[in-house]
Amino acid sequence: MRAFERCLVRRWRAMSSADALHDDPRGDLSLRRAVLRHIVPGRGIRTTVDQVFITEGAQGGLDLCCRSLLDATHTAWMERPGPLALAAAIEMTGAKVIGVPVDANGMRVEHAIRHAPRARVGFVSPAYAFPSGARLSLSRRMKLLEWATRSGAAIVEIDYEGELSGDGASATSLLGLDFDGANDCVIHVGSFSRSLFPALRLGFVIVPRSLIRPFARVRAASTRSSPHAMQAALADFIEEGHWARHMRRLKQATRRRRELVVAELRRLLPKGLAPRSPAGGATLTIDLPDHIDDVALAARLAAAGVDVLPLGVGAGGPRNIGRGLVLGIGAHPESMLRRAAEQLATLVREAS
Ligand SMILES: Cc1ncc(COP(=O)(O)O)c(C=O)c1O
Repeated sequence: MRAFERCLVRRWRAMSSADALHDDPRGDLSLRRAVLRHIVPGRGIRTTVDQVFITEGAQGGLDLCCRSLLDATHTAWMERPGPLALAAAIEMTGAKVIGVPVDANGMRVEHAIRHAPRARVGFVSPAYAFPSGARLSLSRRMKLLEWATRSGAAIVEIDYEGELSGDGASATSLLGLDFDGANDCVIHVGSFSRSLFPALRLGFVIVPRSLIRPFARVRAASTRSSPHAMQAALADFIEEGHWARHMRRLKQATRRRRELVVAELRRLLPKGLAPRSPAGGATLTIDLPDHIDDVALAARLAAAGVDVLPLGVGAGGPRNIGRGLVLGIGAHPESMLRRAAEQLATLVREAS
C-alpha cells in the first residue's frame, strides 16, 4: 500500500495537461506497456501493445467481450459451475448460455462441441476453473482451438488467477500456446483483483489484431477508459518491481493460508468430508452429501459471519452438480481463517 501510495502521489503531482485529456479507449499507454513487458510474459504470451486493452477488472473485460462479440441470435459456452457474473454478462446481450460440465481435466470440450457446435464464443478458464481449480488438459486445449478455427468462433480465455494458479507452477496460457497461428481466435482476459485487490478495478484484455477496432469501438461507446491516475500509478508500481516482489510474498502467504485451512478442516469436519484444492490457489471446495442443503447451510454460515458460496448456485441453469461449499481464503489473516474453519465445521456437523 505504501509503495502504491508513492506511485500514485508522484503521478498525481506530475500530471500534465496531455495526461488530463488522455482518452485512448484501450487505456493508458504506460500500463498497457507494463502489462506487455511484465505481466503476460509470465503466462507465456507475446503480443504487441496495440492489442492490449485496460479494463475494470476481469468482469469489465468479460463485459467488453460480450458486447463486442454477442447478440440475441448467438449462443455461448461457459463452465458449469462457473462465475455467476459471467452468465449475467452473456445474458444481458440476449445470447443464450450453455453450461458445460467440468471434470478433473477442466471443461468437457467434446461435450460442448457435441451439444453446441455453432456457439459464437466459448468462455473457458484453462488455468483454473472456478471453483474446482481444474486445469484444462493439453488435448482439450488443442480440440478447443481446432473447433474455434474450423467454426469461426472466438475463445475467451479467463485467466483470473494469473500466476497464482497452481501456486505459480501453472501451465502456460491458451494464448501462449502457439500452433501456427491457431490461437488467433483467442482473447485473453486477466485481472489485478487476485494479485492486488478487487476494488482496484483494473484488469486487461488481449485481443487478436482483427478485433482491435471492434473492441475499441465498443469501449469508446461505453466507459471509454479507466481513471488515468490509477492506471499510471499501477504502471509505475509494476515497472519499479513492486508487483513482482509482492507476488513472491503473496504466493507464499496463499500457500500457508491454504495449508492451514485444509489441516484445520481435516481435523474438525465429520469423517468422509474434506476440502479439495487440486490446483492450489486461493479457493477450496468441500463436497457435501446430498442430504445436506448447501444453500441453507451457506445462509446459516453467513449469519454466523462466515461468507461461503454454495455450489448449488453455479451458473447455467438448474442444479445438476453436487452439493458443496466454496471457500475463498485469499483475503484473510490466519487467525481469522482458523476461527472461520471452526465455525464452519461446527455448522456442518450440526447439519450432518
Ligand atoms: C472466479 C472469478 N472471480 C471473480 C471474478 C471477477 O473479477 P474482477 O474483480 O477482476 O472483475 C471473475 C471474473 O472473471 C472470476 O472468474
